[in-house]
Amino acid sequence: MELIKVDLGARSYNISIGSGILPDLGRYLKELQVGKRVLLVTNSNVWRLYGKIVKESLSDAGYRVLVGEIGDGEEYKTLATAERLYDLAYQSGCDRLSPVVALGGGVVGDTAGFVAATYLRGVPLIQVPTTLLAQVDSSVGGKVAVNHPRGKNIIGAFYQPCLVLADIDVLKTLPMREIRSGLAEIIKYGIIWSEEFFSWLEENIGALLAGDAGSLVHVVQESCRIKAEVVEADETEGGLRAILNYGHTVGHAVEALTRYKKYTHGEAVGIGMVAAARLAWSLKLLGFADLSRIEALVRRAGLPYELPENLLVEDIMERFYHDKKVIGGNLTFVLPGCIGKVDIRKDLTRDILINFSKMR
Ligand SMILES: NC(=O)c1ccc[n+]([C@@H]2O[C@H](COP(=O)([O-])OP(=O)(O)OC[C@H]3O[C@@H](n4cnc5c(N)ncnc54)[C@H](O)[C@@H]3O)[C@@H](O)[C@H]2O)c1
Repeated sequence: MELIKVDLGARSYNISIGSGILPDLGRYLKELQVGKRVLLVTNSNVWRLYGKIVKESLSDAGYRVLVGEIGDGEEYKTLATAERLYDLAYQSGCDRLSPVVALGGGVVGDTAGFVAATYLRGVPLIQVPTTLLAQVDSSVGGKVAVNHPRGKNIIGAFYQPCLVLADIDVLKTLPMREIRSGLAEIIKYGIIWSEEFFSWLEENIGALLAGDAGSLVHVVQESCRIKAEVVEADETEGGLRAILNYGHTVGHAVEALTRYKKYTHGEAVGIGMVAAARLAWSLKLLGFADLSRIEALVRRAGLPYELPENLLVEDIMERFYHDKKVIGGNLTFVLPGCIGKVDIRKDLTRDILINFSKMR
C-alpha cells in the first residue's frame, strides 16, 4: 500500500493506494475521528458491485450507514440530486461530524463532495474513487461541483477531502472504455509535468490496457503525486493549477456541443490535448517530434483524437467564450512547449483561434 500526502496545512490529507484495501475502509475512518453516522453516496451500478463490502466494513467498525443512491450518469450531477441527499442527511440526523463517503466515479465524487462542502457549511468528506479517472484526478484536489442546465460544473466549491482511498482491484470491473478515459488524464500529467512519466507511459501503455495491476498502481501513484504537487502550490487555481486544464478548453467545447452523449470526459480531453498540441505546433511553440509523440500515445490509448467533422468552427469558438475559465473576456489556453512543460497563455486572439480551427 502506498501513501501520498497532500500537504495543505490544516486541510492536509492522505491518499491511500493499493490492491484489496476497500474492506479496510472502516479501519481508515476510525483514524479520522469522524462521527458514527455515515452518509454513503453511490450509484446503483457501483452499489451492486461494491456496496456490500463497503457497508460491512463500515458497520463492523461501528458506523451506522445511510445509503444515498443517485442515478448513474452525468445528467444526475445536479442540484436536484444534491437536495435529495441533503434531505436524507437532515432527516437521518447527520450532524457536523457525520462524514460523507463518496463511493463511485467522478459523477458520484463531485456530487457527494458538493453536498459535503455545503451541508451544515461543511462536513468531513472521504473519497473512495472507483473509476480510473476518479482515482487519478477527480477525487484529489478538492474541486467539487454540480452542473447547471446552462453549463458543466457551474455550481461548486473548493473543498478538500480528509481521505482518499483508491483500491486498484475495483478497476477489474470497469468497462474498457472507462479505462481509456482515465488514461487521457494520465497522459495529460506526462505532457504537463514529466517527460520521464510520459516515456514510461509510451513503454507501458500495452500493459495498462491489459489491466496489469502493478502498472495501474504505478500510474495512479504517479498521477496523484503530480496532482498533489500542483495543488499544493496553488490550491484554488490562482495560477499554476490552471495547467491541469490542458486539453480541457477544447474538450469541454466538444463535450457540450455533442450534448455530453457522444464522448466520455476523458475521450473529449484526448481530442482536446491533441488539438492544443497542434495549436502549439502551428504557433511554433512545440516541435513536430513532440507533437507526433503526443498524437501517437493518445491514439495508442484507443482514444479519439480528431475533432468531430460536423462541429462548426463558430460553435466551437462560441463555447470557448462560455467556458468558466474565461476571465475578463480573456481566454486561457494551456499549450505545451515540449513534453513535460506547458505554458498558460492568455494572449490568443479570436483570429488566431479561428485560423487554426479552419486548418483541420
Ligand atoms: N473534480 C474534479 O477535479 C474532476 C476532474 C475530472 C473530472 N471530473 C468529473 O468527473 C466526471 C466523470 O467521472 P468518471 O469518468 O469517473 O465517470 P462516471 O462517474 O460517470 O463513471 C463512469 C461509469 O463507470 C461506472 N463505474 C464506476 N466505477 C465502476 C467500477 N469499479 N466497475 C464498473 N463500473 C464502474 C459508473 O457507474 C459509470 O457508469 C465528470 O462529471 C467530470 O466533470 C471532476
